[in-house]
Amino acid sequence: MQNEGRLAVLGAGHVGPVIARLALRAGYRVAIATSGDPEDIALITELVIPGAQPRWASDAIADADIVVLAIPLHRYGELDPGLLTGKIVVDAMNYWPASDGVLSAFEDGGSSEIVARRLAGSAVVKALNHIGYHELEDRARPAGAPDRRASGLAGDDPAAVAAVAELTDRLGFDPVRLGGLRAGRVLQPGGPVFGQVLTEPEFERAVYEDARSLS
Ligand SMILES: NC(=O)c1ccc[n+]([C@@H]2O[C@H](COP(=O)([O-])OP(=O)(O)OC[C@H]3O[C@@H](n4cnc5c(N)ncnc54)[C@H](OP(=O)(O)O)[C@@H]3O)[C@@H](O)[C@H]2O)c1
Repeated sequence: MQNEGRLAVLGAGHVGPVIARLALRAGYRVAIATSGDPEDIALITELVIPGAQPRWASDAIADADIVVLAIPLHRYGELDPGLLTGKIVVDAMNYWPASDGVLSAFEDGGSSEIVARRLAGSAVVKALNHIGYHELEDRARPAGAPDRRASGLAGDDPAAVAAVAELTDRLGFDPVRLGGLRAGRVLQPGGPVFGQVLTEPEFERAVYEDARSLS
């Protein structure tokens, strides 16, 4: 029997509710939070994510095994690293200057590496960031489905990577482990798989060909 698992999804915009719905379907217990009062999202949660618990972010985090960051990157500085200490944190965020504004710290390199430095007491795994929310919902398939697609992940903590690979699999995608957080740069905007919904062999080929073109 699969471990039930407790998930906190921070962010109730576009992608947060999709991740929450998929996770509920996969048997996780799911709490969802914004930066504000859970009362404000109670009705919409009941309607569009039935079964999810709207909670204050701090309470959702405290009770979770895995916390998903589905908030705009320019707001990640609002997160209290102390609350997230000891948690597995899925960084589903992207640096998107059109909506985040220009953030000089994120102009080069890996956004999740910067997030992980701030959340130093957490095991940060970059995942669920490179597929658009519509496709995430529409293309999720059970394990073994012939048209199943891949979703990449990367992190420095092997146990956290294993937990997030299981999450990815249960949500409906073949998890492709890329290596440490730095390797997750291929999942970012401008990378070879960003915005792509590929099968596992196609995904691996795209990453491999990108690495060859850079070498
Ligand atoms: N849209 C996609 O298809 C997609 C797919 C994969 C990954 N992503 C990434 O996921 C992130 C979110 O994208 P989105 O399109 O879902 O954004 P969005 O529609 O703007 O929603 C953002 C949500 O985050 C909440 N939020 C903001 N600051 C917060 C905080 N400190 N604590 C808790 N909740 C907070 C907002 O609520 P309040 O302002 O009320 O707090 C809102 O519910 C982005 O980094 C994006 O690149 C997006």
